[in-house]
Order: sequence, then C-alpha cells, then structure tokens
Amino acid sequence: MADPAELDALIAAARAARENAYARYSKFKVGAAILGGSGRIFAGCNVENAAYPQGQCAEATAIGAMVTAGDRHIRTILVMGGEAGAEEICTPCGGCRQRIREFATPETPIHICDPAGLRRTFPLERLLPESFGPTNLVF
Ligand code: THU
Repeated sequence: MADPAELDALIAAARAARENAYARYSKFKVGAAILGGSGRIFAGCNVENAAYPQGQCAEATAIGAMVTAGDRHIRTILVMGGEAGAEEICTPCGGCRQRIREFATPETPIHICDPAGLRRTFPLERLLPESFGPTNLVF
C-alpha cells in the first residue's frame, strides 16, 4: 500500500502540472509526478506541438525534470489524465513505459489517477513485461 501522505503529495503535484498542460491539439491534459530516489517530487505535463509528432508526454517531462535535478531513480510515479469516472483510465503510452523502465525496477508502482483521484495501481512489470533495460547492455 502506498503511504497516504506520499500519495496525496504526488496527486497534488500531478494535478498542478496537469493544469499547465499544453494540450492545444488533443485537449487531453495530463500531469505526472515522480517520487525520486532523493525523496523529492518532480512533476511534468504534456507539451504538444503544431508539428504533432514533436509533442511530449507528461511522463517524459517529469523524467526530464528529475534527471535535470540530479535524481536517477523513480521510487513511484503517478499519472493523472482523462475525465473523472471515465471508463478508460490514462495508463502511460508504450514509449513512456520504456522511459520509466530506464529509472525504475519491475516493482516500481505506477499510480493511475483521474481528476477525482486514484483509479488503479500497477507495478511496472505488469505494464511492461519482459522488458529491455540498462542491464541488457553490457559494455
Ligand atoms: N499523454 C500523456 O502525456 N501521457 C499519457 O500517459 C498518455 C498520453 C498525452 C500525449 C498527448 O499530448 C495527449 O496526451 C493525447 O494523446
């Protein structure tokens, strides 16, 4: 079980980031918040672009903030997107599952929220089984 205070802090950070999402084309605002190895929280939102493929997911923005600040480990990540109570939940896209993998472990919890709160929690290995990661590259 996630620590309730930790979860609340991640939800607040993801919500604030989501409010700043630049989702001009899809109108689909997403916020992400990471609890880094240092105990700090890093947030990000999606940043779309008129040249559509250049858009960036919220998870990628949050990971960039984490790495820029010097953290190298994702203890927990939380994603907030979609509408309250919607049938579909906002799980990370395939590319972002791989981005998370770089800094996480198979057990790392991925919390999926909508604006009303927590919907589901998955360990990374459930969303990205048999994954390829840093230890596959032996130099
Ligand atoms: N998006 C995210 O930022 N994270 C996700 O987990 C799913 C999708 C963004 C990308 C794009 O800006 C918009 O949501 C619609 O796909």
